[in-house]
Amino acid sequence: MFYGFMFYLLEIATSHDSMRNWNPSTQEILMIKTRIAVAARKGGVGKTSIASGIASILITKNKKILVIDLDPQSNAAYALGVDPTAPGTAELLLGQNPTPLTAIPGLDVLPGGPNLTSQQIQSLHPEDLADAIGSLDYDAVILDCPPGNESLERLGIVAANVALVITNAHPFAIMGANRVMGVLDDYRSKSRRGPREWAIVMSQVDERRVLDKQLPQQLFDLYAHVKNFTIHQDVNISQAGAQQLPLMEYAPKSRAAQELMTIADWASKVQ
Ligand SMILES: Nc1ncnc2c1ncn2[C@@H]1O[C@H](COP(=O)(O)OP(=O)(O)OP(=O)(O)O)[C@@H](O)[C@H]1O
Ligand SMILES: [Mg+2]
Repeated sequence: MFYGFMFYLLEIATSHDSMRNWNPSTQEILMIKTRIAVAARKGGVGKTSIASGIASILITKNKKILVIDLDPQSNAAYALGVDPTAPGTAELLLGQNPTPLTAIPGLDVLPGGPNLTSQQIQSLHPEDLADAIGSLDYDAVILDCPPGNESLERLGIVAANVALVITNAHPFAIMGANRVMGVLDDYRSKSRRGPREWAIVMSQVDERRVLDKQLPQQLFDLYAHVKNFTIHQDVNISQAGAQQLPLMEYAPKSRAAQELMTIADWASKVQ
């Protein structure tokens, strides 16, 4: 079974030709230089933990950060301790000018919520969120994409200049990450708006588990042209979320915080 999956991996890794026809001159300069999409397609792999953790790291660099929660579950808003039912991303997309909620000084949040599943939002143009954030006054935005909803995920991806594609060491999660990278490759190869760079993040790694020991390196070898990062299983991530505190407030010296700092540093340097 394991070798069958590795064969599948080999096929999908070679199915994206990552640099065809990329014309950097078509990438517009937006006011917010750092726009990081966190996406996976698969649920429960650590997207929201990573998005909110990175947001809390970026404010330690004296930045004004906005987390855009694209999830009908509104988990990022909850995890960062603001009202997850307040007007947020859906209202922004509908042109209603919602006021972002402040989690801690320097870190604002536009909550997600069930309105994101409305027909009106689902049928928006993929560039509508990119347009909507164009005039916001922040140093960085983090776009926390939902599981399973391709149109919301696409709004987040197209609004970003860099993407973190999250997986864990489970075949279904790797398939989801591959689908996201397919979208990213497609947009870049057609010189459409969206990230020109992305990284695979292998999340929730626990090397005591067989797949966690074997799959990450094999996946990184197959995607050797894509930047890769690892985040280990760390109880501080789940505890920070449960206590509704940004990771850097809850456990700034934890292993997860150190690993996320490396990712935040790389992502904020991507042009
Ligand atoms: N590195 C980690 N170590 C320990 N627990 C983690 C880690 N990453 C995520 N978790 C826990 O796993 C669960 C799912 O994480 P999270 O909500 O961030 O995933 P998600 O991909 O955003 O999920 P969804 O698809 O539902 O939006 C949470 O309980 C979270 O606390
Ligand atoms: Mg989430």
